[in-house]
Amino acid sequence: MIVIDMKYKYYLEEEEIPKQWYNILPDLPKPLPPPLHPVTGKPLTVKDLEPIFPKSLILQEMSSNRWIPIPDEVLEIYKLWRPTPLIRAIRLEKFLGTPAKIYYKYEGVSPPGSHKPNTAVAQAYYNFKEGVKRLTTETGAGQWGSALAFSTMLFGLKATIYMVKISYEQKPYRKTLMQIWGGEVIPSPSSRTESGKKILEKDPDNPGSLGIAISEAVEDAAKNVDTKYSLGSVLNHVLLHQTIIGQEALKQLESINEYPDIVIGCVGGGSNFAGLAYPFYYMNSSKKSDKKARLLAVEPKACPSMTKGEYLYDFGDTAGLTPLVKMYTLGHNFIPPPIHAGGLRYHGAAPSLSLLKSEGIVESVAYNQVEVFTAAHIFAKTEGIVIAPETAHAVKAVIDKAIEAKEKNKEITILFNLSGHGLLDLSSYEKYLKKELLPYKYPEEKIRENIERVKESLSEKIRKNI
Ligand SMILES: Cc1ncc(COP(=O)(O)O)c(C=O)c1O
Repeated sequence: MIVIDMKYKYYLEEEEIPKQWYNILPDLPKPLPPPLHPVTGKPLTVKDLEPIFPKSLILQEMSSNRWIPIPDEVLEIYKLWRPTPLIRAIRLEKFLGTPAKIYYKYEGVSPPGSHKPNTAVAQAYYNFKEGVKRLTTETGAGQWGSALAFSTMLFGLKATIYMVKISYEQKPYRKTLMQIWGGEVIPSPSSRTESGKKILEKDPDNPGSLGIAISEAVEDAAKNVDTKYSLGSVLNHVLLHQTIIGQEALKQLESINEYPDIVIGCVGGGSNFAGLAYPFYYMNSSKKSDKKARLLAVEPKACPSMTKGEYLYDFGDTAGLTPLVKMYTLGHNFIPPPIHAGGLRYHGAAPSLSLLKSEGIVESVAYNQVEVFTAAHIFAKTEGIVIAPETAHAVKAVIDKAIEAKEKNKEITILFNLSGHGLLDLSSYEKYLKKELLPYKYPEEKIRENIERVKESLSEKIRKNI
C-alpha cells in the first residue's frame, strides 16, 4: 500500500471558465497559406464556403482577432462538465521512479467522454442561430460523432453521421451512443452518396477512412439547402474552440505556481493538441512566461502525417470535394491500416499546426499501436483511468519523457491532454490483452509513392496557384 500525502486534483469554479477562445492566427510566425478552391485553385472566399458552413463559423475561420468571445448559451452548456480537472499522475510518477512531475487535463469527464464537445456545442449553436435544421459529419472512432449527436440534440437539430466502416464494426457501442442522442449513423463508404458509390463499385470491401467519410458528409450537406457540414478537427475554428482546455490548464497551474517544460498531446487532425498547446504557444510567443514550454505532437506510425508526410497543398477528403489546404499530408487518397486509434487515421494535420511544425516550433514523434497500448495499460494500472487508444499515444510519449528525465536526473514538469476515456474501446483492449494487435508501421517508400501520385494528380489550374 502506497501512502502519499500529496494533492492530486486541481479544480476551478464554474465562474472561472474562460469567457473567450484564443485564436492563434494573428500570432503565427508567418501568415497561413490561404485555402484554395478545389476546382479553380483560387483562394477561397466566404461565398465559396457558404453552401457547407454557417456564416459565423466562416468568419471565425478567417478571423484575425486574437480573442473571440464565447456565447453565453455555449458557456451554459460547457458548465455541464467544465471546468475539467487538472490531475497530477502521482502514482504513475512513483511507478516510473521519475523526478518528473506529470499533470494531465482530463477531458474524459464530458458526457460523450472526450474533448470533442468543446467545439461540437459551439458549432451546433452557430448553426442553430442561422436556422440550419440538420448537420452532417464524419466520424472515425465515434468520439466526434457522439459529441455532435449530443450537441445537436441540445439545440433541436438533426445529425447524420458517416462512420468509417471499420470503426462502425469495431466500436458498436459508440454507434448506440450516437443513436441514444438522436443521431443517424451510416457506415462509410455508403451508397447514400455519389462519392461512396464510386468507391464501393471499385472496392466493395473498402474499410473506409476519414477522408472518404468527409467526402460523403460534404456531398450530403452541399446537396441539401437546410443542411450544413460540421468538421471535428483540422479547421481553424475547431482548434479555436478547443483552446478552452489550455486556458483552464494555465489557470490551474498558476494556482500552484507551476509551469510545464513540455506540453504533449496526440494528433489526429490536431484539435486536442492545439486546444491544450496553443495557449502555451501564446505564453511563449508573447513572452508572458519566463519559462518556454516545448510542444510535442504524437501520432501513430501507421498514419504518420507529421513525421513522414510532406508539407504541401492537398485536399482534406478522398474525393477532392473540400478546399485544398497547405498541410503535412500523406496524400488525400491514403488509406491507413485499421489501427484501433480510429480518430488518428487521418491523412493530414491542421494547417496552423503544420505551419508551426514546418517552422520547428512544434516537435513530433510517432509510435506503433502495441507500444501505445502497453503505455495505456500502465496508465490504467497506476492512475486507474482506461484511456482512449488515441490518448494512449500521448501517454506513451509522456512515459518516454519521464524516463528520460529519470536517466538525466532532471526535475521537469510535463503536462498532457487526456483527450478521452476508452470505456467504449474495450474490444481494442481485449485484442491487446490477447496479444492480437499488430505493430503497424507504414512503409516509407509507399508514402513517397503516394505523395508523388497526389502531386501529379493536381490539375494544371491548381498547380499554377500553389
Ligand atoms: C479521444 C480522442 N483523442 C484524440 C482524437 C484525435 O483528434 P484531434 O487530433 O482532432 O484531437 C480523437 C479523434 O476522434 C479522439 O476521439
